[in-house]
Amino acid sequence: MHEDIDSILFSEEDIANRIGQLGRAINADLAPYAESGERIVAICLLKGAAVYMTDIMRQLDLPIEMDFMCVSSYGNGTVSSGNVVIKKDIDVDIEGAHVLIVEDIIDSGYTLSCLRKKLEERNPASLDITALIRKQVDGQLDVGCKYVGFDCPNEFIVGYGLDYAQQYRNLPYIGVLKECVYE
Ligand code: PRP
Repeated sequence: MHEDIDSILFSEEDIANRIGQLGRAINADLAPYAESGERIVAICLLKGAAVYMTDIMRQLDLPIEMDFMCVSSYGNGTVSSGNVVIKKDIDVDIEGAHVLIVEDIIDSGYTLSCLRKKLEERNPASLDITALIRKQVDGQLDVGCKYVGFDCPNEFIVGYGLDYAQQYRNLPYIGVLKECVYE
């Protein structure tokens, strides 16, 4: 597993430090809602964001619900088409709740752009997004991500939830996959 990694972009320590900072920012923004007894719901987008979700949630020191969603965007195989299909929906009603979408990575931006529209139709009180990684990609859609962990070059990265062929999600760091693995 580790031998397939060309270089480490974000170490375990880098990630932990950045999640601490993001957690403090999110706590500060959500605290007024919590104090006035309003519902707050964090929605994890499976599978990639599962690792980030568990770490960011433990930084949030206020009443918050967790739910999980799985979506697929069907495109030409390499670039998302923008046609997002919900494979597993959340169980809770988000009408009137403050929603935080937790995502691992923004690539083309289509997934979050479409999902934001779908969830806004359910009339949440507010909807914000946190993504650990935002790739630097030409033509990326602006999804209005309020809490970004790291901006990252357009490399083939894996680890900390990010996969190649469903592998490498359990790496504790984020690294660049060697070309020979996928060519
Ligand atoms: C990845 C990632 C985002 C999406 C980002 O999911 O988790 O949801 O792609 O790409 P976009 O900005 O171009 O839409 P993927 O479909 O690989 O599923 P996974 O989370 O199960 O790995």
